[in-house]
Parts: sequence; C-alpha cells; structure tokens
Amino acid sequence: MFAEPDLFTLPALDHDFSGETLGRYHLDRRVGHGGVASIYATTCKNTGAIFALKVLHPEHDGNPIAVQRFRQEAQLGAQIRHPNLIPVYDQGWLGGHHFIAMELVEGKTLADVLANGPIGWERSTAIVCDLLAGLVALHERAVAHRDISPNNCMLEDIGGRERARLFDLSHARVVPDMREADGLVLGLPPESVPMVIYGTPHFIAPERLRGSPGDFRTDVFSMGALWFTALTGEALPDPRNADPVGVAQRLKIPPALSAVLLGALEIRPRRHHSATSMLGAIEQALKDLRGRRRRRRLWAFAPLLGLLPFSIWLAHQPAPADEACLPAASPESVEHATAASVVSPVKPASDPQGAAPAVVPVADLEPPARAAGPLAPAQEPLPASTTRGPAGLPAQRFDLRRTLAKCKPHRTARIEITIRPGERALIDGDRAAGELGRCVEDVLTAHPPQQAEMIKL
Ligand SMILES: Nc1ncnc2c1ncn2[C@@H]1O[C@H](COP(=O)(O)OP(=O)(O)O)[C@@H](O)[C@H]1O
Ligand SMILES: [Mg+2]
Repeated sequence: MFAEPDLFTLPALDHDFSGETLGRYHLDRRVGHGGVASIYATTCKNTGAIFALKVLHPEHDGNPIAVQRFRQEAQLGAQIRHPNLIPVYDQGWLGGHHFIAMELVEGKTLADVLANGPIGWERSTAIVCDLLAGLVALHERAVAHRDISPNNCMLEDIGGRERARLFDLSHARVVPDMREADGLVLGLPPESVPMVIYGTPHFIAPERLRGSPGDFRTDVFSMGALWFTALTGEALPDPRNADPVGVAQRLKIPPALSAVLLGALEIRPRRHHSATSMLGAIEQALKDLRGRRRRRRLWAFAPLLGLLPFSIWLAHQPAPADEACLPAASPESVEHATAASVVSPVKPASDPQGAAPAVVPVADLEPPARAAGPLAPAQEPLPASTTRGPAGLPAQRFDLRRTLAKCKPHRTARIEITIRPGERALIDGDRAAGELGRCVEDVLTAHPPQQAEMIKL
C-alpha cells in the first residue's frame, strides 16, 4: 500500500525467548510482539520486581539505525514521565540481546478491544482524552510520537476506572528546531531512512505519506484516525483516495465532539495545532454537553415540583458563560461561527497614522463581549502600563506581542502571526484557524492592530 517498505513494519518475526534468562532478568512469558521486538513479562532475580522487557529481534542487532532508535526509545521513555505513558527503567545489552525494561501493564491494547467491535462515543472520548494527556507530555518536550494507533494504546483497569496509556516510542522524533528548549538527554538522534514511511497504515497523516517527517500535527491526525476507528470499528480510508473529513462527518456523535474530531482530520493548516489544543477542545465540548444536559434535567423536573413558572423562566435563560462558549473546536466550526458571534471581524484602525502603534486608549482595553474560550487572554489581566493618551487622558500601553504570546498552544511551539489592519490575521502563512486562531482573533478584535506587522512567537 505504501511507497516503500518500512524497516519497522516488516512482517513480525516470531522469536519467543520465554523461559530464558538475560542477566538478572528472567523472561516469564511473552505478552506481545511487533516488527522490531518481543515483549515479555519478566522477573528481576535480584529484587523480585516484575517488568515488561522489550527484547530487540536478533535480526536487527547489526543494524545501527535500528539499535540507535531502540536506545532513543528507551531514553525518551525514561525521561518523559506521565501517568498516560509507560515508564522505562532500564536499557542495555544482556545475554546477547538489546533490551528495554519498563512497567508491565496488565491490560489489553485498544486493538484487542476493537476486535470485538466499535466502542461508544463516551468510552472512546475518555480513551482519546487519556492518550492526548500523554501526548501533551511528549509534545511539551518537543517529541512527536509518529506511530499512534490502537496497537500502541494499552487499556488497564485502575480501581474500576479505565485508563489508557500511549506507548511504543520506537518511531518517535524530536522536532529539530525545538530540541534546545527541552533539555532531553539523548544520544545522536537516529536519522529517518529517506523514502521510508514510519508508522501504521490508516493512521498516518496525508502529509507524511507525501514525505514530510512528521510533527505535532501529524500526531493530531493519527489521534483523530484512532478516535474514528474506535467509534466505527473501521479503519479510516487512505487519505490519498478519500477525504477523511467527509467520511468522519457521517458519524453519529454529539456535534460538538464531531467538530473536534473533524478538526483533527483536517488538512494540515486547518488542523488542531497540537495535542494541547485538541485536548482543550474536547474538554470544552464535554463541559458544554454536560451543561446542556443539566439544564434539560432541571427543565424536565421543574413542572413536577409545581414550578411551572420557574421552568418557563429557566428555559428562557441564556446559557452560563462557560456553556454559552462554543466548544473550542475544529477550524471548521470556528469558521461557521465567525459569521455569527464567536469571532467578530477585526475592526479597521481608527487612526492608522496616530500615536505609537501599540498604544490604545483605556476604553479599548475592555475584554470582548462574548464569553472567552479556554485560551482566550481576555480572562487574564492584560499587560499594561500607564502612559498619556492623545487627549492628555491617562492611557495604557498595551503590549500586543505579550498578549498574543498567551495564545501559544504550548511552550515549544513556534508561530508567526501576520497582521494587517482590517484584515484577518495569518498564522504561519495561513488563515487563523482552530483554537489558536480563535485566541489570536479574540486578541485582535479587542485590540485592533494599528499597522501591518509580523510577530514571531
Ligand atoms: N509495557 C507493556 N506491558 C504490557 N504489554 C506490553 C507492554 N509494551 C508492549 N506490550 C505488548 O507488546 C506489543 C508490542 O509492543 P510494541 O512496543 O508496540 O512493539 P513494536 O515496537 O515492535 O511495535 C504491544 O502491542 C502490547 O501488546
Ligand atoms: Mg508497536
């Protein structure tokens, strides 16, 4: 199906070293295997501790790229800790094998669960939220996972609650220009092999199929594809032959969540920018749904209590601010909402030649009228200092750059915002879209730019 075979998706090799001992580790039983390695439930003879030991297939021992990638997988798994990831404790060479020791998770993969059919939207959304939380931890350290699929998601029972964990960092990549900021201690990052596509068919973003190395937004697409598969029990069609958004539009799930899912499967510039923004959008959509349900329940019970006037009054109340706020959803939903009330058009500058470009009168510092989204900066105090306005009135110096900086989805993201008075902002050369776009447009609506500028954050 794909242009080139992938080193790591060659047919799974069937080594089973169960019962053998590698140094201090006794391999009790094999719990899984893939193209690169087998995984064993293992007992450490020194301490009695139980681990999962991932043992590289011997065929790869002589392949420096495979060995380097295996080592990097261990280093990332050891240094980035999160309850929705699987921690690595040890890595090395014992008994003639490369191994990684990590926590043994007693559970099933999402792929195992989906073998019995699709799961409902509530369960699948909870799983996606868990996985996104783990992915946020990776993205915050500038790491793209690049192989998100139901095979790499483990489900376990924690005191009656299901917890999903993302694992298998064998294809992960440190996004290069963000590396310095994150402080990870890694060996030389393994090069990707040219023309080789890393990942799992049906979960790979279209731009990666065209040769892009993969980053946060390609992970977002894969998360959308996983969510789609969980909801339908079917693989997303190859994005080169079908429009994933069109296919996913037919799903019967609450529209607010559907908007977020479509925002993950969008073409790259219109997709959620990162795991953080996708997770924020789902949380907002769920909050909105819960609010609606609560109000419907209240409305239904009020007449029973003889409170008909109250129920009529309740039915006519506007939603509370947090519920009235549209779920920070897909770019599409933002675009639809633009015409209505979410993003009012950027006002043209009243005096383009006026005072210093970044100085606006105090009155203009009022927050926008609509309820703010999770990222909207109007909820926070604005950075300002007192100065003199044109009429001698006190004015506040408004720092556009600092306020826009609050829209960044996470600290490692780099964005370039192009502003022209009276026109829509561009983010990284594209129309502002998604949560980030909404946040930027909110700021610019409240503080119309006085001149064209490009702000790099
Ligand atoms: N920590 C773990 N605990 C329990 N089972 C695991 C663990 N890690 C992996 N597995 C099992 O082994 C399978 C293959 O592991 P994975 O790391 O994805 O290997 P590969 O890199 O070859 O794809 C998984 O799908 C899962 O069933
Ligand atoms: Mg795997």
